[in-house]
Amino acid sequence: MIWKCIVMLLLYYCKYCHITIPCTITSCYFCCNMFHVPPFQDSVIKILDTLYHDRDYARFFVLETIARVPYFAFMSVLHMYESFGWWRRADYLKVHFAESWNEMHHLLIMEELGGNAWWFDRFLAQHVAIFYYFMTAFMYALSPRMAYHFSECVETHAFETYDKFIKTQGEELKKLPAPTIAVKYYTEGDLYLFDEFQTARLPNSRRPKIENLYDVFMNIRDDEAEHCKTMKACQTHGSIRSPHSYPEDARDDDSGCIVPEADCEGIVDCIKKSVKDSGAKKK
Ligand SMILES: [Fe+2]
Ligand SMILES: [Fe+2]
Repeated sequence: MIWKCIVMLLLYYCKYCHITIPCTITSCYFCCNMFHVPPFQDSVIKILDTLYHDRDYARFFVLETIARVPYFAFMSVLHMYESFGWWRRADYLKVHFAESWNEMHHLLIMEELGGNAWWFDRFLAQHVAIFYYFMTAFMYALSPRMAYHFSECVETHAFETYDKFIKTQGEELKKLPAPTIAVKYYTEGDLYLFDEFQTARLPNSRRPKIENLYDVFMNIRDDEAEHCKTMKACQTHGSIRSPHSYPEDARDDDSGCIVPEADCEGIVDCIKKSVKDSGAKKK
């Protein structure tokens, strides 16, 4: 009994990650203070806001370079699970690719607006992106829920940043032309991938009109809100499906959920299930 009490004191259940971890200073700090408590995000945001308080397009360029990295990291880990036969669900790969495709176009817009003109901005953004990739991949392998929650917070911040910018600069933006890449991305050609990342919407339900720079920033802001909804939905394991995979009249019907052949949540769960399965097969 006494041992049980000691073990309970030494283990920590993280309500965000849904995992129990040894309660050392490092892991408690890692799991809760580092990723879930606002000061970590706030301090990164404050550094960027101080560095870029008078250069909006450069700030957006840095943010957009970093913003698409989590989706690469999610896809890398999912491909690894797929290769090991631990977890297979094509919809997650499709949706995360469409999310990275959308963020890449935000980045191309910022480049066309001159946000990447300075060497220092490119250097900072690209090096932070490398660190962020490994951090997110590790976090996603440990707990997909934790990584999705973290990305939801990042996307919420992106929405708020663009919203504030539109409110303060709106009248000026209405006088400026839209970048060519924005017109192409939002209004021309095949919009399959544009619909694909918006998992809370039906395909073809959002078709932006781009007449000036104001419209562009409004749509970038709205994209961030859609990423936010997708990241929130992803926190319920196994709940995401491609918007194109629903019959139009059966959107709220859960009965059609695909049950994957192999399913696990995080690398610890995947390894446990894989060992258990191979043990059962031997018997
Ligand atoms: Fe973005
Ligand atoms: Fe974003």
